[in-house]
Amino acid sequence: MSASVLAVRPRRSCLYTPGANAKALAKARDLKADALIFDLEDAVAPDAKAEARTNVLAAIAEGGYGAREIVVRVNALSTPWGANDIEAVGGAKPNAVLAPKVNSADDVMAVDEAMSDAGLLKTTALWVMIETPLSILNIKEIAAASKRTRLAGFVMGINDLAKDMRAKQTAARTPFLYALAAAVTAARAYGLTAIDGVYNDIPNTDGFIEACRQGLAFGFDGKTLIHPTQIEACNTVFAPSAEEAEEARAIVAAFEAPENAGKGVLKVNGKMTELLHLDQARRTLAIFDAVAAMG
Ligand code: COA
Ligand code: MG
Repeated sequence: MSASVLAVRPRRSCLYTPGANAKALAKARDLKADALIFDLEDAVAPDAKAEARTNVLAAIAEGGYGAREIVVRVNALSTPWGANDIEAVGGAKPNAVLAPKVNSADDVMAVDEAMSDAGLLKTTALWVMIETPLSILNIKEIAAASKRTRLAGFVMGINDLAKDMRAKQTAARTPFLYALAAAVTAARAYGLTAIDGVYNDIPNTDGFIEACRQGLAFGFDGKTLIHPTQIEACNTVFAPSAEEAEEARAIVAAFEAPENAGKGVLKVNGKMTELLHLDQARRTLAIFDAVAAMG
């Protein structure tokens, strides 16, 4: 078991908070999201871009976000604001920068370089939005750019993808199954975090929970959120349940039992259990413990 598998950081809930909304930035200090994405991009009108940047830098400088991971979504380098955003974020040192509208490995490299120029050490990760048709077609080369850059995560942008594909956001998300599976597959192939897209219909709790479960089934680590009321259910869906942790403990105990030393396959609670299930069980327990440690 490699150390990287055991050192998991929960990213069940990643809440977008518009940079122009100082009240929401303050409120986020009391919200139990695993990660906060302070947005300078789509949630901010062109006239409010400068104010949003100032608010976000002030909020990060003030701190008080505890164990929550702080991510700043900047504007694309192709816009009038992107370069200035990245330069400004250089002083704030968030955990990650989230870059939108990435189409290619070259786009990843350009943001990575701009981050270095802004003085951001490699300890500030780069996450990219997967939200354009080209990003889906180039998903392997984009993921592979992680070998040459600080790229560490994918975040699905289904609203933008739907617009560009001229697809409808149906409840079952059938038009996006290809994109969702391609992104998770590429993320896993290159060891990246994968976060699902947002659910727009805020009052529809049942639909939201279904969407969370679907994201979990695809293999996503968590989901991006738009409203505080979505946090609790999302955290629950993306955390291993007590029963799952119990089952995982039984698998670990079975493989550790002296009479099973050296065995590659066992029967645990009636189910065929192989060493790959042991790896999964250890990962489940690592996430379970990490979630418990978040409080
Ligand atoms: N982050 C932090 N706090 C938030 C929040 C968020 N994303 N969304 C709402 N809140 C706060 C509000 O400030 C309000 O705080 P208060 O009780 O102290 O006044 C409280 O939660 C209730 O908000 P509510 O009145 O239900 O929502 P709203 O009508 O003010 O805002 C949205 C609705 C959709 C505009 C808002 O939720 C939002 O901006 N979401 C994020 C949008 C985004 O970032 N999009 C880009 C990525 S897709
Ligand atoms: Mg967008």
